[in-house]
Amino acid sequence: MADKGRTHLKTLIRRSAIQKRVREVAQQITKDFKGERVHLVGVLKGACIFLSDLIREIDLEVSLDFIAVSSYGKDKQSSGQVRVLKDLDSSIEGLNVILVEDILDTGLTLSYLQRILLQRRPRVLKVAALLDKPSRRLIKDIRGDYIGFPIPNEFVVGYGLDYAERYRNLKDVCILSLPPE
Ligand code: IMP
Ligand code: MG
Repeated sequence: MADKGRTHLKTLIRRSAIQKRVREVAQQITKDFKGERVHLVGVLKGACIFLSDLIREIDLEVSLDFIAVSSYGKDKQSSGQVRVLKDLDSSIEGLNVILVEDILDTGLTLSYLQRILLQRRPRVLKVAALLDKPSRRLIKDIRGDYIGFPIPNEFVVGYGLDYAERYRNLKDVCILSLPPE
């Protein structure tokens, strides 16, 4: 898909590969929590597409909640400042919580979310992320329990991920290259 000006999109992960991998991740979660209930917490807004595909492939009793944190805004770099914009609707005490993220990048967002959610005493707190950019990690111990795809250090959009709120509706995960400012 060509865009205005010199902005370009290059497919990194096709829709069919995403679907296959999401199913595998859901099967792993189903196996790990056999006979139990899981409580999925989606991190708005980027995780919404991944979450909606994932939840339908999990064969367990599942409940759902959302949290929204401040994001990059129009910037491609993380400010390092994380803020809760919308908190959970209900308590997670004693629940098997799976935090569902679109992508793990520097790890700043996840480390903040883990800290505030662990204070609420879930039974377990696991992390599922569609994408992981391990080479960008600033917080060492941060890792996901269920990762869709490790990817190189590229800025990606599509399948829920945005650049300045655009491109979330792309079916594939694509590398976005912008012209130099
Ligand atoms: P972190 O705090 O640096 O790990 O960043 C996590 C958040 O930054 C993600 O939930 C995304 O919203 C955003 N982000 C990081 N990398 C990308 C990217 O390549 N494309 C789009 N959003 C990204
Ligand atoms: Mg974003």
